[in-house]
Amino acid sequence: MKYGYFDDDKAEYVITRPDTPTSWSNYLGSTVYGAVITNNAGGYGFYKSGAQGRFMRLRFNAVPMDQPGRYFYLRDQEDGDFWSASWQPVGKPLDQYKSECRHGTAYTTITSEYKGIKSETKYYVPLGQNFEYWRLKVTNTSDKVRKIRVFSYCEFSNQWNTTQDQVNLQYSLFIVKGEKVGDNLLRYSIQDNLYIQHPEYEVGGAYMSEWVALIGTPMTGFDTSREAFIGTYGSYEHPKAVVDGACTNSEAFGDNSCGTVQGDLELQPGETKEIMLMLGIDDALAVGQKIVNEFGTFKRADEEFEKLVNNWHAKLGSFKAITPDEDINHTVNVWGLYNCLITFAWSRAASLVYNGERDGLGYRDSVQDILGVSAAIPEEAEERLVRMISGQCQNGGAVPVISKDFNAGHEKAPKPEEFRSDDCEWFFNAVPCYVAESGNFDFYNKVVPYADGGEATVYGHLKRALEFNLERMGADGLPCGLLADWNDCLKLGYHGESLFVAFQLRLGLTTYADISERLGKKDEAAWALKERDTLDANIQKKCWDGKWFIWAVGEDGTVYGTQTIEEGQIYFNTQVWAVMSSAATAEQARICMESVKEKLATPYGLMLCAPPFVKTRSDIMSSVVFLPGIKENAGIFNHTQGWGVIAETMLGNGDRAYEYCKASIPAAYNDKAEIRQSEPYVVGQTTYSTFSKRPGNTRTSWLSGAGTWSYYAITQYMLGIKPQYDGLLIDPCIKHDWDGFTVERRWRKMNLHIEVKNPQHICKGIEYIEVDGKRIDAAVIPVSELKDGSKIVAYMGKDAKSSPVERV
Ligand code: GLC
Repeated sequence: MKYGYFDDDKAEYVITRPDTPTSWSNYLGSTVYGAVITNNAGGYGFYKSGAQGRFMRLRFNAVPMDQPGRYFYLRDQEDGDFWSASWQPVGKPLDQYKSECRHGTAYTTITSEYKGIKSETKYYVPLGQNFEYWRLKVTNTSDKVRKIRVFSYCEFSNQWNTTQDQVNLQYSLFIVKGEKVGDNLLRYSIQDNLYIQHPEYEVGGAYMSEWVALIGTPMTGFDTSREAFIGTYGSYEHPKAVVDGACTNSEAFGDNSCGTVQGDLELQPGETKEIMLMLGIDDALAVGQKIVNEFGTFKRADEEFEKLVNNWHAKLGSFKAITPDEDINHTVNVWGLYNCLITFAWSRAASLVYNGERDGLGYRDSVQDILGVSAAIPEEAEERLVRMISGQCQNGGAVPVISKDFNAGHEKAPKPEEFRSDDCEWFFNAVPCYVAESGNFDFYNKVVPYADGGEATVYGHLKRALEFNLERMGADGLPCGLLADWNDCLKLGYHGESLFVAFQLRLGLTTYADISERLGKKDEAAWALKERDTLDANIQKKCWDGKWFIWAVGEDGTVYGTQTIEEGQIYFNTQVWAVMSSAATAEQARICMESVKEKLATPYGLMLCAPPFVKTRSDIMSSVVFLPGIKENAGIFNHTQGWGVIAETMLGNGDRAYEYCKASIPAAYNDKAEIRQSEPYVVGQTTYSTFSKRPGNTRTSWLSGAGTWSYYAITQYMLGIKPQYDGLLIDPCIKHDWDGFTVERRWRKMNLHIEVKNPQHICKGIEYIEVDGKRIDAAVIPVSELKDGSKIVAYMGKDAKSSPVERV
């Protein structure tokens, strides 16, 4: 079943049926003023933090789902019938009410059509501003004059700390005030006396406030009290004021507040009128009025919209592909990257599922998030990378979260038992990716503090990352898993060993040796390669189980992930990482990836392990708490799907890489949205596997490592356009029947036109490349051969030289 389609020209996803199986959401604003909005205008707003700065309420996981939000109610003053400009919350029957939602890059437009009245509402936050526009156009498509009364609605929090807002009612119900302070301006304040005493207070601390202004029509009424507008026994579906036909001009004094303005539109047949609401944070008179004076015209709002769209579209311009596969095109050209950029911004802090419990930048996830955005926003990627590296402690491990107030050099290191084993190993993916993207090799010499004091060059930080694991080896000479390796649920005991981290370490040692060579540090390179030899020997001694690599070794010596164990017999990550780290022999790589196909592949993606845990004790495998087939308990953990694609491309299996890619990318589910249920334009953290009763259901949309790894795997491995330090590698691994594809790639400020031709219909292998007509017999184009506007034609062919060794 289909609920919408991709409009790639406009970079929008268009939802044509509003009764989607779950709320299909989008993001507005920035990391300073952020907002989530659904296809039915549900959603919330927050300042700097989803947890501490939540100024606009949403009732999470409630019935009906995801309400309230940013609503306009439209009321026909002739007959009293009313509806909302988004299908919900009024929810008129869909045979009478038509609606379309266009989610774009940081804006959402919702149109409706009901009884001869069309409406179009556009929501966005101008770049760099702390307010939002809700623009409403109403058109009379009937043949008689219509009198339409418009009411807005949103619900402000009583405290911006979201937990306090919900639980501390003996306090929070007595601190909120709403008032009309200008002809078209409403003022909301929390703990207002503190502001009166201290007008210098910054908003969001002890003083919290919002404002709402109506533009384009006189405010004929208002309500700032939620109780007055909704009515004690009313609902969002039937708010009392709308049922009665007029606001009560309530000024909230305690209890709850709401953002309701009322305006009246008289429309001739065929006539359109536009009004808009502006809503922002901070004091209405000191700040809001000034913003209204500056931004409160339609012309200015248009300009701000254009700026916003241009800004986002410029980022999306970093990589545009035309391949024979439409789903891949939608993913690469718009939604995959947009997903990465939003995840980069919000980490795992704010969505319809992450509702404030997690704040700040989770360490390992945020380091990985860099892979997805390096091409689009290299400067911001560098800044973030430096911040993340400064979260490394002197011992080489990392703090678990970089919080808003994180102060590099002055933090306390976690207790020994609180370190995770994988955190800093992600440097070896993210740092070379950024350096190869930017060409800023000197980044390795940049001095960055440690979280708990002292400093080192980036290169020095990399060494400490390796040493951290080398100094924490278990009985078999493999790295200890510590509190967790990538898998939060793995409990091996402090000295239990993680093969996943062993593979990360191997990749790290290889990468470090390469960087050392380039920096002229031969001794360091030799050290790393020697350590790698030892590690390789230990891996081969302990970890090959005949058909696949084991999962891990518990502190008590139990080996997990073997053919003889009942639950969690085979674990996905150690197979793909055996390939990605080149630890597996060619034979092992082939066999273990066959085992993945046989035991872990489903039509919906690759399961994390199989069979699920039911009897295993939760102190060993805490994922036993999840229902079988979900999340870390034999679910399809989407974070890892890109690894499956990468591993297969490294082995040259383009058909299989394609199959895995298609099984997991959201766009491929557009026509069967009832299976996946979540937005077909963004990733979700987990997909229920065939061990569950609901295979294919996908949950926890948007904020997941799935975005990064999927985009990175497609662009840099499948399409194979992979920056190197000194050149651009073009080494695709595609479905054999593709004739080729084209890519527009921005790289080091050059716009490159790349065409890949595959006349012999093979999966992998570049014979030669023409750069502006000049032939190069290699897969890497030296940077000196490239200029802005270069035209590159890469020829795949059976006579290809063997593919170059790649970094991840
Ligand atoms: C979640 C966490 C991530 C972890 C993964 C597997 O996605 O955000 O850090 O690696 O679960 O447990």
